[in-house]
Amino acid sequence: MKVERIAVSLEPELLKKFEGKIKQRAYWNRSKAVSDVLREWISRDAWEVGKGEMVATISILYNHHMHDALDRITDLQHEFGKGVLASMHIHLSHDDCLEVIAVKGSSQKIRKISDGLSSVRGVKHCKLAVIR
Ligand code: NI
Repeated sequence: MKVERIAVSLEPELLKKFEGKIKQRAYWNRSKAVSDVLREWISRDAWEVGKGEMVATISILYNHHMHDALDRITDLQHEFGKGVLASMHIHLSHDDCLEVIAVKGSSQKIRKISDGLSSVRGVKHCKLAVIR
């Protein structure tokens, strides 16, 4: 990957905190850390503005004994159509299933399916992670 060098001036206090974070997160260099922070910032901005196509994962933990939970979860994914890229189902325990769903679309659409999934009866936890 082609890279360009830039020089950045920071207040000593901010630099100290940044170095602390780099150490805490086991980054092997500053450039990777700066790139990640910038990507996160740009992605969060795009998410808030609702511009362009986003990619995210929605992870849900649910009790599959709960009446209709699986049907409702499947219905919601069909309603989202091509926005669902793939899903993975894991039988976690006797009662619980974990489903990880990769989705793409506008932030409004992704938020809608995520909210829909989290409100299904039987869903104990729903976590949305925006990747891009
Ligand atoms: Ni299962």
